[in-house]
Amino acid sequence: MEVRFRVHRFDPEVDVTPRYQVYTVDVEGDMTVLDALHQIKWYQDGTVTFRRSCRSAICGSCGMLINGRNRLACNTRVSDLGATEVSVSPLPGFPILRDLVVDWDPFFAKDAAMMPYLVNDTPAPQKERRQSPAEYEQIDNATLCIMCGCCSSACPIVWNNGEYYGPAALTKLYRFAFDTRDTATNDRLALAGSEEGSWRCHTIFNCTTDCPKGVLNTQNIQALKRKVMLKNLGFGGTRISFEVTPPQPKPLADATAGAHGDFGAGHHRK
Ligand code: SF4
Ligand code: SF4
Ligand code: FES
Repeated sequence: MEVRFRVHRFDPEVDVTPRYQVYTVDVEGDMTVLDALHQIKWYQDGTVTFRRSCRSAICGSCGMLINGRNRLACNTRVSDLGATEVSVSPLPGFPILRDLVVDWDPFFAKDAAMMPYLVNDTPAPQKERRQSPAEYEQIDNATLCIMCGCCSSACPIVWNNGEYYGPAALTKLYRFAFDTRDTATNDRLALAGSEEGSWRCHTIFNCTTDCPKGVLNTQNIQALKRKVMLKNLGFGGTRISFEVTPPQPKPLADATAGAHGDFGAGHHRK
């Protein structure tokens, strides 16, 4: 079956604005969108630029906007799209470096801010720090995250407020805040309750819908909100002793600034 691929092109050294270029690929069997992009790059146009590594939905580098949804190119079968024309664009809301390649630095800076590692200041046991199956169950789903960015790129709050941590970082925060071996709960819930933390989430569920690994981002963020609230109300033990500072209302002029922001479109780096 011949399928037309409309591929987003942008070369910062030549182009002022992005454009779309159409390539026709003979799609057979279980060919994925990534296979089709390889066909284009290897046999039609070597300048088409995109990221990929594992081709097994593990490395998280091939997230793209494919026919209107954020997906991994390597585990999206062209035949499953049920279309003879496939549009391929970079992840929305991320700065675009070239063609389908986006700048990951802001995304990973947010991840790093979540302290994405286990903190435990008690003496290490002889072997590993153990959890019961029930304790692990709380974080099992969150550990499926491969940091592909599809969720944060689908979140309208991220589009409108680049400072919001977003669902990927907040899921990472959840993963450690609910880890019974971790002792940095105070710091983690301070992050969750901060101005750019979980309260920014409007429970729109775009992130959960677009996660290719089935991570329940929205539910994780709501769990963080509940944990912050319960600790702030004095429930749940003595490990938490901080005040959550509620977001301060902005002056009207600031609050309306950006209300007509570039929803969904990437920002082109000049
Ligand atoms: S939660 Fe899902 S969509 Fe978000 S970064 Fe992780 S794997 Fe990707
Ligand atoms: S549920 Fe929250 S984090 Fe997810 S897309 Fe909606 S606003 Fe963004
Ligand atoms: S190439 Fe690694 S997730 Fe798609």
